Amino acid sequence: MEKLISSWNNVQFVPEKYIFPPEKRPGNITFSASKSIPVIDLAETASKDRDVTIQKILKAAQEYGFLQVINHGVEEDLMNDTMRVFKEFFTLPEEDKASFYIENPKKNKYCMLYPSSMLYATEDVHLWRDNLLNSCHPLEESIQHWPEKPTRYREVVGAYAAEVKKLGSRILELIGEGLGVESGYFGGKLSEVSTLLVNHYPPCPDPSLTFGVPAHCDPNLITILLQDSDVCGLQVLKDGEWIGVDPLPNAFVVNMGYQMQIISNNKLKSVEHRAVTNSRKARTSVACFFLPSDDSIIEPARPVINARNPPIYKAFKYKEFLSHFLTKTGELDGPLQPFKLQS
Ligand code: OGA
Ligand code: NI
Repeated sequence: MEKLISSWNNVQFVPEKYIFPPEKRPGNITFSASKSIPVIDLAETASKDRDVTIQKILKAAQEYGFLQVINHGVEEDLMNDTMRVFKEFFTLPEEDKASFYIENPKKNKYCMLYPSSMLYATEDVHLWRDNLLNSCHPLEESIQHWPEKPTRYREVVGAYAAEVKKLGSRILELIGEGLGVESGYFGGKLSEVSTLLVNHYPPCPDPSLTFGVPAHCDPNLITILLQDSDVCGLQVLKDGEWIGVDPLPNAFVVNMGYQMQIISNNKLKSVEHRAVTNSRKARTSVACFFLPSDDSIIEPARPVINARNPPIYKAFKYKEFLSHFLTKTGELDGPLQPFKLQS
């Protein structure tokens, strides 16, 4: 497990393999407060302001591809416990983590621990991050294969996965209402699969040289992210400028993936984002990806298509997108190109 950054002791400098070429480095990292991601209060959806809130969500998804939600119904204690359990996992002795390590022949597909990215062996530059990937589909079965240390892992993360799934369904229903699709449109196969990815970014001796995650868009439908409460790291591209997503107490960050952009026929945007590292503090984030099942048909939804908005994308199976996407990481508009209709 010596490839995991969290297994290194006393890192004094960034090894060459982690240094990005000069033109791709983050450079001076600032978290300017001049612009910020819209914050949506989900409590308002229970009142007569429901339609107003839906319009706010759509506007944020259109202009930023990102929003933060508060009063979302997930218990604060559960969010804190989940973050604590994951952070603790990374501090366990090697023997407690080894069975999940990706290079262990006895690893299981429901929980995998690996450095940088799934492309470690072939990537030009490694990322300053360790990952813990928990499959949550189907949840009851997945849980049986998750770690048993820290002791409350299965209980806490299982409850968290179930609650975030409910929140995701609720947000998808609100987005669906705003787009004019029928109730339940996103609820079936389009969001059938969910996965929790814990991104763990240990302190980095020089954050200007490397990334936790470089600029990318998420390939899935939507992502719900829990951030560490006191370390900044996530940045979103807005009008050519990287803006920071401040950790707000008890909030979740929600962003649109490529599939939402396609289904909404470019009304909602899958926007580039990245995570930079911090020189003093470790940062942990927990991304819950909502993904279509492999055989789901993805296409612009009927209600968003009209004479002025003809379909931009053709219909395809999600697995076709994925197999193409996996060969195109790093090219930002690349993944969408083959699925566009000729104009
Ligand atoms: C991701 C991601 C950002 C973060 O996992 O896709 O964008 O803040 N993570 O860790
Ligand atoms: Ni992402």
